[in-house]
Amino acid sequence: MNEETALLQLTGDASVQQRFLEMSHLYDAAIREIRTRLEILDREFSILYASNPIHHIDSRLKSPRSILAKLERKGLPLTVEAAEEHLQDIAGVRIICNYIDDIYRLADLITRQQDIELVEQVDYIRQPKPNGYRSLHLVVLVPVFLSSHMELVPVEVQIRTIAMDFWASLEHQLRYKSDVEATASLKYRLQLCAERSAALDLEMQDIQREMRLLSENS
Ligand code: GTP
Ligand code: MG
Repeated sequence: MNEETALLQLTGDASVQQRFLEMSHLYDAAIREIRTRLEILDREFSILYASNPIHHIDSRLKSPRSILAKLERKGLPLTVEAAEEHLQDIAGVRIICNYIDDIYRLADLITRQQDIELVEQVDYIRQPKPNGYRSLHLVVLVPVFLSSHMELVPVEVQIRTIAMDFWASLEHQLRYKSDVEATASLKYRLQLCAERSAALDLEMQDIQREMRLLSENS
């Protein structure tokens, strides 16, 4: 069953389906807008300082099917209005950086852009989740210019290092693979990995800073 048919079955209404498609277009445009801005910043850094703060960018648009599933889980009405009002992660962008410094530098540069508004920031690096999860989460409003008007569209931005991303993907597998039981021992070992990888991030950061100083003074 394709996405449109699934949507039609779930909502039973062709006009709702049309509204979901319009919404998807809007959020997809917001993803492309912010990706471009990030790529411009990354390119500028490579020209000015011969360094790239961004290792790579991933993005995803939540499908109508998972939007409806999330609304249902939260006991909300299955409408575009409810999705727009209550879900902040319809558009998701993940920025993977080499170093922790790059995370904060990018967050600062993107939220300082005049027409971008920061609506939420959660720092799971300074305050990791109990399981060891680390990342900087932002929700920003990004302007999208349509034929008749401009809309500010929320995008959830997760910024993390390669090491944090490596950890999060394994932890995600443990959480969502239904055929693997998340035993206390596996969870504990993952927690230890999170600490070791955080220590590694700090040490690599420190070495990189020192190398930069040496190169500036030479
Ligand atoms: P949602 O209802 O899932 O959006 O949760 P929330 O609004 O409380 O946001 P939160 O910041 O906890 O999580 C948002 C996203 O961050 C998730 O969808 C994941 O992509 C990621 N994330 C948060 N916590 C974890 C975690 O413990 N492990 C992993 N692997 N990813 C996480
Ligand atoms: Mg969320």
